[in-house]
Amino acid sequence: MTRTIAVIPGDGIGPEVVASARTVLDALDRRHGLDLGYETFDWSCRRYAETGAMMPADGLETLSRFDAILLGAVGWPGVPDHVSLWGLLIPIRRAFRQYVNLRPIRVFDGVGSPLRTAEPGAVDLVVVRENVEGEYSEIGGRLNRGFPDEFAVQESVFTRAGVTRIADYAFELARGRRGYVTSATKSNGIVHTLPFWDEVVAERAERFPDVRWDQEHIDALAAKIVLQPDRFDVVVASNLFGDILSDLAAAVAGSIGVAPSANIDPTGTHPSMFEPVHGSAPDIAGRGLANPVGTLWSCVLMLERLGHEKAAAELMTAITTTLRDPRTRTPDVGGSASTADVTAALVELVAGG
Ligand code: NAI
Ligand code: MG
Repeated sequence: MTRTIAVIPGDGIGPEVVASARTVLDALDRRHGLDLGYETFDWSCRRYAETGAMMPADGLETLSRFDAILLGAVGWPGVPDHVSLWGLLIPIRRAFRQYVNLRPIRVFDGVGSPLRTAEPGAVDLVVVRENVEGEYSEIGGRLNRGFPDEFAVQESVFTRAGVTRIADYAFELARGRRGYVTSATKSNGIVHTLPFWDEVVAERAERFPDVRWDQEHIDALAAKIVLQPDRFDVVVASNLFGDILSDLAAAVAGSIGVAPSANIDPTGTHPSMFEPVHGSAPDIAGRGLANPVGTLWSCVLMLERLGHEKAAAELMTAITTTLRDPRTRTPDVGGSASTADVTAALVELVAGG
């Protein structure tokens, strides 16, 4: 059965890294008979500038027919970032109930971490970020605009169902890894939502007696990820905490250019979306310098999710191999290769492997 992927290259380096990914996926497909079909959509800030909308009115309906979504990056100077975010990414995450945002981080051999303590191979953690509720809610408002007593209120939303399912996902994931979950909290300062988060996580933990777990306040946790990144396995966090921790962890790994992410609807009712963590990088767009690894690692997560574990593992091995050699690394990770050079090396590795 052909599985179909909606491809949204987006803006800036988005089309460059997505083209690289398509080339490598095609090589994998030839070898493994993955039977993947693609359709490409030009939804982007460019489209917004021309039509006033990031995507057509029936965009979500169109996407719902696909098995997965592969996204490059959106955002361009001149279009406010909240337009690109709320006009495309957030509607997709929410309409398709992609309540898990998965962000794995590794320190690769060859890619220097800015931390002395981060040994290649030793740092291997996954941030499991709650992706549809929490602090990123539209509930709230602003009153008395322009007056001295102007104020803004924004509510956080934590539901039992929402915390339960993200905790379960994290514990389940840890089972297949090193069996250790850290829950990010701040229940000493935020006195309603986060004690509730703690309670529900503790309740769910009881169902996973084989998984070790503890909780850390977000401030202390941020410090520990810097000081001892190899201590962590799965870190589960609310929407805001997870957003911050995953960028922090990506920085520990050496470059935002290698960091992948998956927005997953674990029920499989809706398509999941795979995208690099980085943005459209206007400063290097069009120069052939973009690191395609973040997108390709996202493709590894996509292939796993589509049931192509063997192809996924081969692609991950090929990525690790290219990162070891400066001739097949882009400048952001201390190499001299172009996007095309890295792509060619990966094609050769997955075709010959
Ligand atoms: P950015 O991630 O685009 O760039 C930050 C820095 O990292 C830049 O110096 C860039 O050159 C470098 N970089 C990023 N990806 C790279 C790669 N693959 N290879 C080599 N170097 C890379 O973040 P920035 O500059 O804050 O945002 C630029 C635009 O992207 C904005 O419009 C922003 O809203 C958007 N954005 C979109 C995201 C998405 O589509 N999911 C995520 C983050 C930002
Ligand atoms: Mg972020």
